[in-house]
Amino acid sequence: MSSQNIYILGIESSCDDTAASIIHNGKILSNVVASQKIHEEFGGVVPELASRAHQQNIVPVVHQALKKAGVTKNQLHAIAFTRGPGLMGSLLVGTSFAKSLAYGLNIPLIDVNHMQAHILAHFIDEEGFEKPSFPFIAMTISGGHTQIVEVKSHFDMTVIGETIDDAVGEAYDKSGKILGLGYPAGPEIDKRAQKGNPKAFQFTKPKVEGLNFSFSGLKTAILYFVQREVKANPNFIEENLNDICASIQYTIIGILIDKLKLATKQTGIKQIAIGGGVSANSGIRQALKDGEQKFGWTTYVPKFEFTTDNAAMIAIVGYLKYLEGNFAEQNVTASARLKI
Ligand code: KG4
Ligand code: ZN
Repeated sequence: MSSQNIYILGIESSCDDTAASIIHNGKILSNVVASQKIHEEFGGVVPELASRAHQQNIVPVVHQALKKAGVTKNQLHAIAFTRGPGLMGSLLVGTSFAKSLAYGLNIPLIDVNHMQAHILAHFIDEEGFEKPSFPFIAMTISGGHTQIVEVKSHFDMTVIGETIDDAVGEAYDKSGKILGLGYPAGPEIDKRAQKGNPKAFQFTKPKVEGLNFSFSGLKTAILYFVQREVKANPNFIEENLNDICASIQYTIIGILIDKLKLATKQTGIKQIAIGGGVSANSGIRQALKDGEQKFGWTTYVPKFEFTTDNAAMIAIVGYLKYLEGNFAEQNVTASARLKI
């Protein structure tokens, strides 16, 4: 199959972002995301509301992606969409839309695994960003996921570790809620952490075997700690907010880096690529840089807009699958628990 002039539309709707992107060969022409503000007041994603918002957003978002790219729908070679994992009501919107459009245009449909897409986002052609070579270790860290994956080739991946409860972004967001911060709290905790003392307060790291993670105990430890301190001093949070944030961040980054160290030891692979919204975190970025010096790692952090939930990552997977002629049938269904 010729790889000369391929235009693919990618659609993402697994959680609370409705997104569409056009890729031309390996290069992104447009990357449109409609984030759903509605969930902020609830301090987390409300599935019913997410599904309804996707229905409202999907047509204008796809339209805008085409317009920004300067491409008409008749130029498209295929439509790629997120099949899972994610919220069923959200996935259904993107899946049904992609199926109808592909059917109407009589072009191939390509199903994409959202977790693979977070990793394969590293293969988007983007100036200033190098693509990892195989094999490498990928760590996907966001509000919905925490996974370590051994990547042998584009579509040969093995999950070697994952969270047994909360995702790392949830640890940030739930800690933020305890501290009275807005949702999502990750960015603010990160900002404050940079002004605080990371050793001011100690939180015990969870003891989880092997490469798996657990963050729910840490959240509880933080809750009890804050409740105890506030009892003694009602202004404890306000007076120590930067130090509390720095200490939480120090603990979380320590957990992630410990697991990466173990993963590199177990696999013998020293190339590490990260993805997901938490990869914006200044602490993890610095720790990876330090790892290059200390442990001889080569690390890859993608462009921010390709690392939070987005459709460019769906489009690149669509392109890679298109080159292999790996298409989905019209009877493909969304799968909330789809595995890598
Ligand atoms: O990938 P993403 O946009 O959506 C999914 O959850 O799939 O990730 C959002 C998560 C939220 O939990 C948010 O608090 C966290 O990423 N986050 C951060 C930072 N920026 C976003 N966490 C820590 N530090 C940051 N700078
Ligand atoms: Zn995601």
